[in-house]
Amino acid sequence: MSTIFVTGAGTDVGKTFVTCGLIAELRRRGRAVAAFKPLASGFDPARAAASDPGALLTAMGEPITSANLDRIAPWRFAAPLAPDAAAAAEGKQVDFDAVVSFSRRVSGSADLVVIEGVGGVMSPIAARHTVIDWISALGSPALLVTGSYLGAQSHALTALAALRARTIPVRAMVVSETTDTTISLADTVRSLARFTGSMPIVALPRLASSALHPAFATLGDLFCCDAARVK
Ligand SMILES: Nc1ncnc2c1ncn2[C@@H]1O[C@H](COP(=O)(O)OP(=O)(O)O)[C@@H](O)[C@H]1O
Ligand SMILES: [Mg+2]
Repeated sequence: MSTIFVTGAGTDVGKTFVTCGLIAELRRRGRAVAAFKPLASGFDPARAAASDPGALLTAMGEPITSANLDRIAPWRFAAPLAPDAAAAAEGKQVDFDAVVSFSRRVSGSADLVVIEGVGGVMSPIAARHTVIDWISALGSPALLVTGSYLGAQSHALTALAALRARTIPVRAMVVSETTDTTISLADTVRSLARFTGSMPIVALPRLASSALHPAFATLGDLFCCDAARVK
């Protein structure tokens, strides 16, 4: 059993989309994936299916019930803000140590545990901690998701440098294609590869749904179990 922490160069880059695709790929291989979104802001109970925890539950084939939401996403806040600010809007505080110990306990019997972070690598999550402190405290390797918009390369390389400075192993980067941009997905990947060393960079085109795609097969091979073990 291994754990991967899905983080982003920013928000809305495709972390949830990539996580759902990886879950679908591993389920296709007959593997059990346990996905968590411990901190979720902008959460509207009336639209739970459209939320990140809702998307992860659906990808895992589990119903969107209060019990399941509590199990995979115990810190849910209404305001679409960084978790510390969203918590403050409800008169609450995020206890960083509690988030870390929850994230350590979520192993279960899965072949792979996937934890989706929130926002970008250094989004504030508590009074004095950002996402990178959370990943570092867990000691888990990271999957870095970024986009292909103009400016994404700087965001991706800055995030990568920050993770490496904290000696967090970054197992791969996924570039999830941004629409309406001047730079192509292929050019973004080619350009980034000059600066990232031997770390795999996976190009993920814009898809109709996070269903099967070779990019997810590549991630499945990297993080879990080889394709030869497909049932
Ligand atoms: N490769 C892709 N193909 C199609 N839609 C995508 C892709 N990557 C991201 N999206 C869509 O873009 C939006 C933001 O992605 P999401 O995964 O929610 O980002 P994040 O979790 O990083 O905030 C969502 O509507 C998602 O479905
Ligand atoms: Mg998300």
